[in-house]
Order: sequence, then C-alpha cells, then structure tokens
Amino acid sequence: MKDMELQGLVEPLLIWYDKSHRILPWREYPTPYRVWISEIMLQQTRVEAVRPYYERFLRVLPDIVHLAQVPEDELLKLWEGLGYYNRARNLKKAAVMIQETYGGEMPGQYEELLKLPGIGSYTAGAIASIAFGQPVPAVDGNVLRILARVSADDRDIMDQKVRKNVEERLRNIMPTRAGDFNQALIELGAIVCVPNGKARCGACPLAFCCMAREKGIVDELPKKKAKKERRLEQKTVLVLREGDRVGIRKRSAKGLLAGMYELPNLEGCLGENEVLEWIRKQGLSPLRILPLAGAKHIFSHVEWQMTGYAVSLEETEDMDRDGLIFIDAKETEETYPIPAAFGAYAGYMDI
Ligand code: ADE
Repeated sequence: MKDMELQGLVEPLLIWYDKSHRILPWREYPTPYRVWISEIMLQQTRVEAVRPYYERFLRVLPDIVHLAQVPEDELLKLWEGLGYYNRARNLKKAAVMIQETYGGEMPGQYEELLKLPGIGSYTAGAIASIAFGQPVPAVDGNVLRILARVSADDRDIMDQKVRKNVEERLRNIMPTRAGDFNQALIELGAIVCVPNGKARCGACPLAFCCMAREKGIVDELPKKKAKKERRLEQKTVLVLREGDRVGIRKRSAKGLLAGMYELPNLEGCLGENEVLEWIRKQGLSPLRILPLAGAKHIFSHVEWQMTGYAVSLEETEDMDRDGLIFIDAKETEETYPIPAAFGAYAGYMDI
C-alpha cells in the first residue's frame, strides 16, 4: 500500500475512534504523567488488568515529585502482580532524572523522552502525541498487525527494520489529532483487528481498503518468526513457618526479579528428605513437612516449574539467619513485595 493510499485510512479511523473508543481512566485527563504511567503499565499487560493498578498508583503517587521519592519496596508493592518489575524501577529512575535535568516537568519532545530510562520509541511516541500533540507515531504490536493486514505485508514484524519502516510511513501521514490517531490504531488492534481469534472485519472502519481481507489472508498475517523457546527451570519452594511467622529472603540486586523478596527456594525438584536436610543445614529444626501442589510461572524468557513444601519449624533463639528473615505473615502483605511468581505458595503463608 502506497503512502498516498495510507493517507486514506486517517479519516475513517478517526471517525470510528470518536464513536467507538472505550472510556479508560488515562484517557480522561491525558496529562504527561498520567499517559506515561498508563503506557508503561499497558506494556505486556491487558487493559482490564491494568485499570485497578493504575487507579491505585495514581492515588498513592499522583505526580513526579511523589514518584521520585517513593521507597523502592513501596513502589514494588504497588506494582506487585503486574510483573516485569524493571518497568517500575525505571519509572522511579526517570522521575529522578526529570527532576534533576528537566526541572520536574516531563519533556515534550520525542527525542528527549527517548533519553529517559524505560522509554523506547513506542512509549516516547505515545507520550509525545497523546499528551503533547506532537505529530509522531507510536508503533506497538497492535499497529504493526494492522499495517501488516491492511497492506497485506508479509514481512516479519519482529524485525526492527520493518518496525522502522512502519514508523516512517506513519510519520508521513500524521494528522493534527496525532494522539487520537495513534490511540485509534491501538484501539482498533485491541477490539477489532485482534491478535488471537477471529478479526472482527465486519466492524472494521478499514475493511473497505484492507488488502489482507481482499486476498482472504487476514488470519495468516502478521508473520512473526518463531520466538526462542523459554528456558525451563525446576524449583522447590518452601513455606517455612515458625508460629505466626514465615521465612522470606531478599533476591539479589541483579537478574530476574532483582531486589524483591521471595519465599526461600532451591534449585531442582527435591524430595522431602533433601528439603529437610537443607533446612537443618541452615541451623533450623523442622517439626513437620507437608507437600504442596505443583505450580508454574511463565516469564518472558524463563518458565519456572515449581514443587512446594510447607514446613513448620521449632522456634530457636535466632530465627533470622543467612539472609532468611522471619516476619509476621500479615506484614508481608503490607511491607514486603512478593512477586506473583510465588503466588501459588504465598497463599499458604498466613493460614
Ligand atoms: N495499550 C497501549 N496503550 C494503550 C492506550 N493508550 N489505550 C488502550 N490500550 C493501550
């Protein structure tokens, strides 16, 4: 599809957006801060899942000043359940940088936004266009899918060259209502030209010029090279109980779920005796051990396959040892962010 023809999509798409878009909290007052937080949360997370997190986040941290000052544990607690915790850490880093470098005001230029931690070309385009009205595209998976379909383009959308090319083509046709245009593409991808399941071509404002539809290949596009397979890791997760207290520890500052608290866990799928031996090695005295159901958690590059045990311990003089701390089970909910990856076992902490 030539750029001249692509221009023909703008008007029908905006008309459709005006009458069909969902009312979402971040669309109500699209200030730079609100748009920024929503776009970061919406990366890899569905709108309906984001909604309650977004509202709570904005209540607790209503602006850049609050975000720049929030203690990391409190921030991660607000993010608990959304996953990809580096998104939260980068938000805070960027807020500090905005205070130090931009006098506390979010910069409005695409190029400046790109310099902030956690902001790539999509997010910079979304903030610049939605909050500042700049005529720049915001190309995410939704937009790549729609463009691949309307143009019957079978290039691999995971290829950065293809993304750059889509950005350039859209840059040439950006209308004055750039923010609405970008959101219209995203919205169309979310509710009509959907990624999984049948596209709702009957409801699509671009059906009249969609080349994939004309050729009957909507379901075959976009083309994506197969992703690298996830690495499988076996883990044995322990719920160590001493009266009302439960053992947790802080993960290392680097790597997966860096700096978060976790239930103690061991590599491999261990039997009861191996677990008891490890516990005794920590200087703790197990009283009872109970196997828990297996569970799995999928990250982007790794899948954890978990076995679990609940172990009650005899109280000793010094329960806090070697990185393992014993805390009131209720306290974890308020103070210690335990990532959702342990969700299947976290439920056994305060029963
Ligand atoms: N996904 C990413 N950005 C979005 C937005 N602004 N509205 C709805 N869904 C989105």
